[in-house]
Amino acid sequence: MRINKKNLKWWQKTIVYEAYPSSFQDTDGDGIGNLKGITMHLDYLKSFGVGAIWLTPVYASPMKDNGYDISDYYAINPTYGSMEDMEELIAEAKKRGIRIVMDMVFNHTSDKNAWFTESASSRDNAKADWYIWRDAKEDGSAPNNWGGIFGGSVWTWCETRQQYYLHTFGDFQPDLNWENPEVRRALYDVANFWLDKGVGGFRLDAVTYIKKPKELADGPVNPFMGYASVHDMTANTEGILDFLHEFRSMAVEGHDIFAVGEANGVSSDELDKWVGEKGVFDMLFEFSHVNVQFDGPQNWCQTRPWKLTDLKKAFFDSQKATENTGWYPIFLENHDQPRSVNHFLPADAENQAAAKALGMLATTLRGTPFIYQGEELGMTNVQRQSIEDYDDVLSINQYEIALNKGFTKEEALACVMEYSRDNARTPMQWDASENAGFSAGRPWLGVNPNFKTVNAALQENDESSVLNWYRSLYRLREEYSLLIDGDFGELFSDSEEIFAYTRENDNQKAIILINFTGKNVSYDAQQVFDAQPALFSGKSCVAGSLEPYQAVCYIKDKG
Ligand code: BGC
Repeated sequence: MRINKKNLKWWQKTIVYEAYPSSFQDTDGDGIGNLKGITMHLDYLKSFGVGAIWLTPVYASPMKDNGYDISDYYAINPTYGSMEDMEELIAEAKKRGIRIVMDMVFNHTSDKNAWFTESASSRDNAKADWYIWRDAKEDGSAPNNWGGIFGGSVWTWCETRQQYYLHTFGDFQPDLNWENPEVRRALYDVANFWLDKGVGGFRLDAVTYIKKPKELADGPVNPFMGYASVHDMTANTEGILDFLHEFRSMAVEGHDIFAVGEANGVSSDELDKWVGEKGVFDMLFEFSHVNVQFDGPQNWCQTRPWKLTDLKKAFFDSQKATENTGWYPIFLENHDQPRSVNHFLPADAENQAAAKALGMLATTLRGTPFIYQGEELGMTNVQRQSIEDYDDVLSINQYEIALNKGFTKEEALACVMEYSRDNARTPMQWDASENAGFSAGRPWLGVNPNFKTVNAALQENDESSVLNWYRSLYRLREEYSLLIDGDFGELFSDSEEIFAYTRENDNQKAIILINFTGKNVSYDAQQVFDAQPALFSGKSCVAGSLEPYQAVCYIKDKG
């Protein structure tokens, strides 16, 4: 599909903000953020152009994976508030032109979901076939050698049924059986319930795993994991798109919403089947740029050095892949990733100029920016002294795996610390008061000790802050439509210092230059001949050179 530039949809023109409700704002002092806390800050979000808020799961849940283990899709987690609070959030957001996007966790539920409890109760109940059950092998061992994304076997034994159930993630997250039409219908009903509440879109969690191959056969063992990776064995199994077309027709088509899929395992040559006019989603999150330092998805503690050209290649490939097909969701962070300043500019993560450099990238590539909470303040990773300070189930499991592999405690902690999902999950830093203004009670996860210098209140009144830079970037997008509808072009592809590209429509051309180093760098000034700096960070803007981490957007009219 050729994108219709004149007639872009609302979600192609706006900025999406990902809110992690537990850590956004607590209004009742229990130390856990809640829905009222999000409603309270809607004007703040509007101030840098947010037109949609993706809420990570807010449904009833035992919270073993922070809501990605849903016990009731039709209820709000009481620690987050009530259904009335949710309706209030949707209504107050709507008044400000902001839509609420729900996270649909449809690959699995919690083991405390009534669907699972019933399914597990016998082999012949009404929901007996709603999950993936298999007999043990003759020797009593698990049906195959697959290992899960959170470590360990994907199979857990159920005494009552005398069978194993399959779980791609934790043992508390049993996978639903999408082959069963009743299951699919139940999930579409969930989506429609939320559409009736007035939500503006869906993010489909872990969606490439919903279809399993017919034979659940053993696979090649990944020596590091000691299992065959469930990702390798099941991601993007043939036939998955039939399910997703059905989902689209039952829960997306006919509604003015967007659907974005979390699509680990979809390659760019298959993209046109997944997105765009013939596809099943409007956008797909793919991970090549955030995995730039990993050799494979499971080798989390075996990183390799990466160069700027590797990162640029990942982005440039995605930009090209979505040139004519679908639309790109630009993200540098999310609730599963380290903070982007640490990830991409580790030498100067605390430097506000570094956060601004990444802000330029996040908002001027071609696509819809997805900004993760705190990214607009330049929030950073957190250092912890011990594994006891971690909440994330994945980090805790990874620590154990590293110890079993012979790493010392210090080494295991170092592995976990750099990429732990908890880095992104520390409470929002609103001001310099106790607990960063996040909660009057003890936060469920310790605040990052740098909150006295990195916080929204401080940045509010500082013209040169990261927050005000995001506001400027938003105004830039509003003023120059080519930053939304313009084509993308590579510039200085071989440079290991400058991340540069162009955006171009019929009337104008933008040249975006971002210095990814902490030193002054120069470039061929001819590139910006005739153009005016529309926005720049740093002290001054001189054609042909960039200050450390300086980001500049030049614009020129076409003759
Ligand atoms: C979510 C994770 C979650 C996992 C299992 C994802 O990819 O983003 O936070 O742990 O799915 O639901």
